[in-house]
Amino acid sequence: MTRCDGTEAWVALRGHFEAQGREFDLRQAFARDPGRFASFSLEAPGVFADLSKNLVDMATQHWLLGLANECGLPSRRDAMLAGGMANATEGRAVLHTALRAPKGAASPFNAEVHKVLDAMLAYAEQVRADAAITDIVNIGIGGSDLGPQMVVPALHAFTQPGRRLHFVSNVDGHDIARVLPQLKPANTLFIVASKTFTTQETMANALAAKAWFEAQGGTDIARHFAATTTNVKAAAGFGISTTFGFWDWVGGRYSLWSAIGLPIAIAIGAENFRALLAGAHAMDRHFAEAPLAQNLPVQLGLLDVWYRNFHGFTSRSVAPYHQGLARLPAYLQQLEMESNGKCVDELGQRLPYGTSPVVWGEPGTNGQHAYFQMLHQGTDVIPVEFILVKQAAHGLADQHTKLLANGLAQAQALMLGKTADEARHEKAPTAAADIDRDVLARHRSFPGNRPSTTLLLEALTPFSLGALIALYEHRVWTSGALWGINSFDQWGVELGKALCNALLPRFASRDTAGLDASTAGLLKRLLA
Ligand code: F6P
Repeated sequence: MTRCDGTEAWVALRGHFEAQGREFDLRQAFARDPGRFASFSLEAPGVFADLSKNLVDMATQHWLLGLANECGLPSRRDAMLAGGMANATEGRAVLHTALRAPKGAASPFNAEVHKVLDAMLAYAEQVRADAAITDIVNIGIGGSDLGPQMVVPALHAFTQPGRRLHFVSNVDGHDIARVLPQLKPANTLFIVASKTFTTQETMANALAAKAWFEAQGGTDIARHFAATTTNVKAAAGFGISTTFGFWDWVGGRYSLWSAIGLPIAIAIGAENFRALLAGAHAMDRHFAEAPLAQNLPVQLGLLDVWYRNFHGFTSRSVAPYHQGLARLPAYLQQLEMESNGKCVDELGQRLPYGTSPVVWGEPGTNGQHAYFQMLHQGTDVIPVEFILVKQAAHGLADQHTKLLANGLAQAQALMLGKTADEARHEKAPTAAADIDRDVLARHRSFPGNRPSTTLLLEALTPFSLGALIALYEHRVWTSGALWGINSFDQWGVELGKALCNALLPRFASRDTAGLDASTAGLLKRLLA
């Protein structure tokens, strides 16, 4: 495998950036090329993407494609999709795509996958038909929480009325203590979701739920507790007999398609869950088959490398213009930053370039009234990803039009900006009447030329959402592969876990010996 910085294309991209890329101006690019929107937009299953407001031209595209080819991206992708070992540091294949391959497809583990899927969906339907179960509590964290927690509200229009889904993740007792008083044991199903079934937070919350259930006079744990895990034995040890398994080749942050998706299936039903899988599978086919130039996940991954390593942008803001996607930025934070937040390559060599950007955001229009000020006039350039959904699932047509107009306008404002001269000719607000006109014009000007991508969905359905999530998965893989890193391990979360386990007994022993002065000082204050 060739790492990005060992290619001729990398050198060419550096030259191209210095010669033209750094000074690239979107407004001039649109003025020069009336066909720019058509040339830089792509159609993928369930998602239309306008990439034309990005700081790229045909030469950039040419060299980025060269980079992908020189790094052997197509053959690496094919090897991963075929189940070749892609997570060497954990000694595992990477096969979340096998979870959404249709029954009978020539895909690894197809029979096993569908056996568990059918059983999980039958159970979900059984729960949906059980009028006594009004509350479902998913207890899990990270990949065992964020996927269902993001998808369930996103697909609210497809959910069954009269049933409440709760998500408990934090070891902070405030989380579960907020949920338990809303429940009655006879009407509640707890799902303990944990790939390993050892995660501290999840085990603590599961034990708290079980203790509450018994203290409230709950009986029949078998009916009121289920588990989704690869560690069926540990779930049985906990006393749970209804368990849906999955496999070590499903990474936590790629697991919503597996039994971890049980809360989603209960919320939207088996048929809609299958549509979610079908959308992801359609995107998998696109990723596997579309030529690189028309391959949306590949194009987005290449753009990420261009921005991170040549423009030096350190973050990307995600702005879903759909309230149902409020948790998408949090979901993407784990997907992208846990996957690509690495500083050594697969051979353990220290990387001389930046990897994962900071991914962050809030749903539009809320973000506009918080941090968009910085996006428009701050000193850093932060590419923004707008997600627009053409059809609303409510009847408030006027509000939906306003929402869409806001999304379009923000992307337009970022790109167009406003010169001080333009601002000078505007009518100044009365409150600012005493300020020098030129000074005020400078405050009221916008640099513009700030890049954005717009992803456009016809409607937010199980199919289009499945496609959108799979798009992000493959895009993250693309940049990770070019950077030469293993996007599927997460050793960076281990040190904190180990130190926490070492600190815990000190809360009882009150022993601070051997600790660094800061930790010792803080611990003493906590114990005082
Ligand atoms: O935070 C680390 C991590 O291992 C994530 O990768 C994972 O999604 C999460 O913890 C939860 O793990 P588990 O599903 O094993 O409880």
